[in-house]
Amino acid sequence: MSLYDKHVLPKLVHFACSQQPAMRQRQKIVPLAKGRVLEVGLGSGLNLPYYDASKVSKVWGLDPSPEMIQIAETRARSVNFDVEFIDLPGEHIPLETNSVDTVVVTYTLCTIVDVDRAIKEMLRVLRPDGELVFCEHGIAPDVSVRRLQKCINPLWKRIGGGCHLNREIPKLIEQNGFRIKEMEAMYISGWRPASYNYWGTAISGVL
Ligand SMILES: C[S@@+](CC[C@H](N)C(=O)[O-])C[C@H]1O[C@@H](n2cnc3c(N)ncnc32)[C@H](O)[C@@H]1O
Repeated sequence: MSLYDKHVLPKLVHFACSQQPAMRQRQKIVPLAKGRVLEVGLGSGLNLPYYDASKVSKVWGLDPSPEMIQIAETRARSVNFDVEFIDLPGEHIPLETNSVDTVVVTYTLCTIVDVDRAIKEMLRVLRPDGELVFCEHGIAPDVSVRRLQKCINPLWKRIGGGCHLNREIPKLIEQNGFRIKEMEAMYISGWRPASYNYWGTAISGVL
């Protein structure tokens, strides 16, 4: 791992993800989580204060980056529910099948290398009537922005820890076994190639 990845990237990601427009998005969806929750790509733990402690019994916070988990540990000390960290990637979730009530994923499907496998893993660990709660940035509806996303992507991936600007979020979720129950999408404030957000809930597509 490079010095940039170890020392600069975690602080950069934390800074970018803690901007007000993204924090407002967290407020819209994280309180929907209930029961035993798995958050995939916990990062620096920015969602932790938005969980409704009266509805959540435990949060497993999975992230392959020890540097991000280290930042999240501080935030985990001030919440009123149990947080257990898992320092592994989402492609290999070490939890039993049908063992969690809610999976939460925010601003992470853009980064996971084998995103199809990770979404299938989320479906596997989720109880059959459980919910996936998501908020992600992805492909924009405007041709001009899409062009820009495609053009900047290779450089962006290198400086952004593998982040893709133009993943097709709803398609990814649905092609890996979920059915989207509710979803909204719009540009939030900020740089347009990285600010088209998709957020909502999804359930197993086989129900
Ligand atoms: C842009 S950050 C978002 C963090 C957090 N979800 C948030 O909303 O602030 C992306 C996170 O995905 C994590 N990540 C990278 N590869 C991953 C993988 N294969 N599985 C799960 N998380 C991954 C990174 O370590 C990073 O913490």
